[in-house]
Amino acid sequence: MKEGLSDADESGHFPQFRDARDGADVERLATIAENYRFFATHQAAGRSTAYEKLANAVAGDHDILSFLSGLPPAKRQPNLLFASSQYLLEFAPDPATLRELVLAQSAKLGALMLSRRTQTNEAARCALFLPALAALPQPLALIEVGAAAGLTLLPDYYTYDYGDHKIKGLADNAPVLVCRASNSVPLPDNVPTVKWRAGIDVNPLDVDNEEDVKWLRCLLWPGEEGRSERLNSAINVARRVRPWIERGDLLDDLPRVAQMAPQGCTVVVYHSAVLTYVDIDKRRAFAAAVAELDAVWLSLEAAGVLPAVDAPSDSEPGSLLVRGGNEVLATADTHGTWINWTSGAQKGR
Ligand SMILES: C[S@@+](CC[C@H](N)C(=O)[O-])C[C@H]1O[C@@H](n2cnc3c(N)ncnc32)[C@H](O)[C@@H]1O
Repeated sequence: MKEGLSDADESGHFPQFRDARDGADVERLATIAENYRFFATHQAAGRSTAYEKLANAVAGDHDILSFLSGLPPAKRQPNLLFASSQYLLEFAPDPATLRELVLAQSAKLGALMLSRRTQTNEAARCALFLPALAALPQPLALIEVGAAAGLTLLPDYYTYDYGDHKIKGLADNAPVLVCRASNSVPLPDNVPTVKWRAGIDVNPLDVDNEEDVKWLRCLLWPGEEGRSERLNSAINVARRVRPWIERGDLLDDLPRVAQMAPQGCTVVVYHSAVLTYVDIDKRRAFAAAVAELDAVWLSLEAAGVLPAVDAPSDSEPGSLLVRGGNEVLATADTHGTWINWTSGAQKGR
């Protein structure tokens, strides 16, 4: 596998990785089509009927598949194609408008896909980290790798609604993150105390930059209720808090950033929907680098992304695993709407 070239979508799911460049054209197109069908069935279905239909239409469209096959494997993802199309069209594409765009403006579309990356920044994922963060000795020093615009670096500012259990965060007018939690999730009464925070991203997005904000909006899927409002209010919180995000690599720059964490804090290195974008060797090296630090490691990635950890047999396709180190703590929705605690170390409520 080549560096960062997974055909997976942002939640890290793909039927089976294949380096399409090694195969014949027909097989390459079939692989891309298969990934779009997988996206339709396991990611878009139940969330965005429009994108479920669109992904299936792409899977059956020879011209669009040919266009995609001219891009590097990491740039063929549904999220990237759909967000780039939305960016150029100014509305979410449907099969006809996408086809027209690909045929009429392939150079422009391809250039945008090459220059942008999937950087969906979903504040609601904080609801999945919150139980583990709050259970740690406080205060915390947070280091998020793959922080995008920093919206998942602000777990203490948001308000949480876990059904019968609500937790108020620090910010007024913050998004309320609604998350269905299984009974065994050790829900805290308060948000964690964060003394220091830093992000690392190869391409930090700036919440004050109009183009970056437009890109974040284009990454949302049509039909997902509440996401647009949540994004807007999380951006407003980030504009006030301005978390520091270092431009850098999750492996190369982690030790340097970690050194800046203040004494007396529990240092937490965490990430969500990030490791899928780097190759397996780098994932292993990253795990080893975190182990070298005096830090707690929390992650939210798809099953199989960290090969040392198996998915619980009942985990839903398209779901993510919340891990503390190598231990699976919970299975969870990729967009933060539910969490099921699976860890034996659970506390109960
Ligand atoms: C899908 S976004 C997830 C953002 C955020 N963690 C969330 O869950 O909302 C993945 C992010 O990882 C970043 N990324 C990918 N490879 C990286 C690397 N090698 N080092 C640092 N960041 C990386 C991307 O730029 C992108 O912002």
